[in-house]
Amino acid sequence: MKKKALALILAFAMICAFSLSACGGGSESESAEEGSEETAKLKVVTEATFAPFEFTEDGEEEIVGFDPDMMAAIAEDQGLELEWVNMEFDSLIPALQSDQGDIICAGMNKLAGDRAEKVDFGDTYFESDLMLLVTADSDLAGIDAVTSDMKLASQIGTTGGDMVQAMKDEGKIADGVVLNQWTDCYLQLQNGEVQGVIVDKPVGEAYLNNHSDIAKFVGDSFGDHEEFAFAVQQGNTELLDKLNTGLANIKANGTYDELVDKWFS
Ligand code: ARG
Repeated sequence: MKKKALALILAFAMICAFSLSACGGGSESESAEEGSEETAKLKVVTEATFAPFEFTEDGEEEIVGFDPDMMAAIAEDQGLELEWVNMEFDSLIPALQSDQGDIICAGMNKLAGDRAEKVDFGDTYFESDLMLLVTADSDLAGIDAVTSDMKLASQIGTTGGDMVQAMKDEGKIADGVVLNQWTDCYLQLQNGEVQGVIVDKPVGEAYLNNHSDIAKFVGDSFGDHEEFAFAVQQGNTELLDKLNTGLANIKANGTYDELVDKWFS
């Protein structure tokens, strides 16, 4: 009797020990997976009303365009994982400074103002200039023909936004309307609230592709020449080196040119 009871207790103890170690092993590998996911994803911040660089289709949340495609190709080349966050343009640099994001990619001109003192920019991936967009029936000849009774719009915190603000301060226009979204700038123009929108040339061109019946460019490009670059937090040279290397690689292997064809032809 005693022997039988002892054998039973032993068998029970062995089953317990086995199932415990099995459970323990399982939970350990799960938490290891979770940990590596958290550390690998880099947060790319942008403002997504800037087609064809970054925008959302009607009713969709996904951010699409040249910048997401280019960054996806760079990330694949460098073994990085990205997630995109949409916010207002003038929040992008503060977001990096306050650790709310790792990378800015937003058709941002690295030469403008004091931006380069606040974040570290990578190599230039696109060059641009500003243009004046007006309604199709406008007889305005160009930016120099704008008169002090007119209103112009552009996006807040951008090179165009700074320009309409400066023109207002100098009394060259009646009002400078700086808005959060490019889509609202176009609406103001369509509704006759403003006589023109100052916008980056490739972005105005994309708008005109679908709206040539209601809008047009006038005059030559103006303002300072722009160089678009992605940016990282100041001092994050490890990440910046990877992004620059990835950009060079996708330029060398033809991916970059394919994306230019896809979004700008
Ligand atoms: N190129 C202009 C600038 O750097 C406008 C950029 C706007 N970009 C955007 N994603 N909304 O100021």
